[in-house]
Amino acid sequence: MTEQPFIKVRGLTRTFGNFTAVDNIDLDINRGELFVLLGGSGCGKTTLLRMLAGFETPDAGSIEIDGADMAQTPPYSRPVNMMFQSYALFPHMSVEKNVAYGLKRDGVDRAQIKLRVGEMLQMVEMQDFAKRKPHQLSGGQRQRVALARSLIKKPKVLLLDEPLGALDKRLREQTQFELMELQDKLGTTFVVVTHDQEEAMTLATRIAVMEGGRFMQIGTPAEVYETPATKFVANFVGSVNMIDGVVTSCQPGLVDVKTKQGAVTLQAQSRDEHAVGSEVSIAVRPEKIIIQKTRPETEPETPNVLHGTVKELAYLGRLSTLRVETDAGFIVEVTSPNTTRHSDGKHPFEWDDEVYISFPAASAVVLIA
Ligand SMILES: Nc1ncnc2c1ncn2[C@@H]1O[C@H](COP(=O)(O)OP(=O)(O)OP(=O)(O)O)[C@@H](O)[C@H]1O
Ligand SMILES: [Mg+2]
Repeated sequence: MTEQPFIKVRGLTRTFGNFTAVDNIDLDINRGELFVLLGGSGCGKTTLLRMLAGFETPDAGSIEIDGADMAQTPPYSRPVNMMFQSYALFPHMSVEKNVAYGLKRDGVDRAQIKLRVGEMLQMVEMQDFAKRKPHQLSGGQRQRVALARSLIKKPKVLLLDEPLGALDKRLREQTQFELMELQDKLGTTFVVVTHDQEEAMTLATRIAVMEGGRFMQIGTPAEVYETPATKFVANFVGSVNMIDGVVTSCQPGLVDVKTKQGAVTLQAQSRDEHAVGSEVSIAVRPEKIIIQKTRPETEPETPNVLHGTVKELAYLGRLSTLRVETDAGFIVEVTSPNTTRHSDGKHPFEWDDEVYISFPAASAVVLIA
């Protein structure tokens, strides 16, 4: 017998007036997952979380958590806690009092509270700050206290709305790993909202990419990145080069597409079936493009070769981003890792260099929608 999904959502819809914020969503989340909702501002992420928590009543659909239907269950009786987009700690209370708050309100006895708060602060490595007030903490420390406060009552599910939104980039990246470690230690199911695609990729066991109240794709970070289901997903998750074309042949394994750039050959995904003559877009990630000064000769492994000129070059340390204009006037973004040190300060490519760019058939994806 396969395990039932821990959170099971069917046909969930929420409208405000005649605007549909969450549109007929189905979702299965497994126990212990770190599930990420990724999408732009206003796509319905917070509304979806609020329905899971019980703060918002759906217009249609059902939510089941741990086998129990939530329709008649008020927020405080759900095995769920939510950490809000702008988590507010009580400013006049010390760290330990902030964390103890939920237990105290439930009438848990003092010795128990002391023990559990101590454990929780240890867990988020804030035990040395127990007596401080929030204004005496850094942003990252405050964020950890807020996490401790949301976890103190041991919810089975923690909903986190932009938990790292208030942190600067460096601290944010560091805290992502702390969040994952904490989740791993506790085994609590996390549903995390973010609009930052790199953060989503770092954190998630699976990602749901959301737009206009719907899910465009649900998959592991690698699935969503390597085989995006739609143009929106391809664009939203990472950078991508997109070329439109028409299918000229589709045999098992390979698809030929005629584009303004010439013929392109792609390896078909198992889900692909493209009628000859149908219009498609081809997506190739910048890091999958090979850039060379001489023409690659290893056909047929690299059938997709274009000649062009380097028009822009940005040195980013770890890698460089180049924009190459092909002979047909199409701009292609290419990233190339800076694996060797250029001690003379010179990059292997320079502006106006003539180059050949190519990509293997397996590195491109055919998109229809
Ligand atoms: N109470 C409400 N009344 C009317 N419209 C609402 C209400 N709550 C949300 N909306 C609308 O529903 C849509 C989705 O809102 P939601 O807060 O879920 O977006 P979000 O994905 O969390 O965005 P952000 O990333 O900016 O937080 C938005 O267009 C918003 O204006
Ligand atoms: Mg929101």
